[in-house]
Amino acid sequence: MSILDTKNATPRLLSTITASIISSINALMSLFLVREWYIPLAVFIVTFIIIYWIYSYTLEHFIYRKIKLIYKFIYQTKATKREEFFYNNVLPQKSLDEVNQDVRQWAMQKKDEIEVLQANEQFRKEFLMNLAHELRTPIFAIQGYVDTLASGAIHDDAVNMKFLNSASKGIDRLVRLVDDLDEISKFESGRIPIIQENFVIQDLIKDVYEELSFKAKERHIELLLKKGTERQLTVYADRPKIRQILINLVENALKYGNEYGHITTGCYQMDDKNIYVEVSDDGPGIAEEHLSRIFERFYRADRSRSRHIGGTGLGLAIVKHIIEAHGQTVTVRSKLGVGSSFGFTLEKGKE
Ligand SMILES: Nc1ncnc2c1ncn2[C@@H]1O[C@H](COP(=O)(O)OP(=O)(O)O)[C@@H](O)[C@H]1O
Ligand SMILES: [Mg+2]
Repeated sequence: MSILDTKNATPRLLSTITASIISSINALMSLFLVREWYIPLAVFIVTFIIIYWIYSYTLEHFIYRKIKLIYKFIYQTKATKREEFFYNNVLPQKSLDEVNQDVRQWAMQKKDEIEVLQANEQFRKEFLMNLAHELRTPIFAIQGYVDTLASGAIHDDAVNMKFLNSASKGIDRLVRLVDDLDEISKFESGRIPIIQENFVIQDLIKDVYEELSFKAKERHIELLLKKGTERQLTVYADRPKIRQILINLVENALKYGNEYGHITTGCYQMDDKNIYVEVSDDGPGIAEEHLSRIFERFYRADRSRSRHIGGTGLGLAIVKHIIEAHGQTVTVRSKLGVGSSFGFTLEKGKE
């Protein structure tokens, strides 16, 4: 490392180098004017002292003070005791390059923070917009039926019951929406505790199939357990919530799947800690571009169809919340024209 390598130069070293160079030049010049040796020596010493003093004073008090100010500013939120130590002991040893790097790092971190805030803000705006839209549809429908009834249709026996039923359907939809929103907000604020217990996952699947058998019959869809995965597996999870996940997934498969199709649920032991559960259908599938967003609130692959069928667009968002509250993961695989598979992991229980 040469002396002129300014990378790690301290103010003291810089002052010494500068003072030596200037005072040497002065001493040499005075050597030409006077032949006595002690005059140039005196010139050297005096110039050295003055230059050294001015230079180091400027560096220390001017530049370093400014840098300290910058540090104070960028570390605003850090602990004060340690800060004191930092300003007095660590900082004076830092080279300008290191300071530069610290500032850059700080700027980058701030930029990331701002991006996260902006994304959240965007998310909030979109959510409100979606929510208003979701509420408007059933409310307008209800309003339409009620207004028509009020302006005379109530006495027309050919339509009055039909309009009332339609209005009532709109209200059901609103209730479902509010229930789902309530559930999601509880999950987001962490107000729903996860109460884990050991249970056999296949028993729960059969239970869910039982509950949805009527809907399955309506669409002539068969509910099956994957061949070769009948061996009973015990999981350690919140049973009612896993039940809700299975209901949401099987209901989706029933709603969006083809008539006369099949829904198959498989349970696999992944390793000695985890169980993987997957609900598959042979329905129309979901296009690639929707897959990454399918778990977002109100996101639908096929807007008009989903609303027509009566979904709130929150089912998969709830699934994701429940699985994440368990510290597990949920995935989706799908191919257009072949079908969709929604899978999630669970902690293996004690048998
Ligand atoms: N098994 C499936 N097959 C095809 N599309 C599906 C399936 N499950 C979910 N989807 C798509 O994902 C979207 C989001 O599902 P979800 O959050 O449950 O909302 P919802 O069922 O209320 O529409 C659905 O609107 C649908 O487009
Ligand atoms: Mg759904």
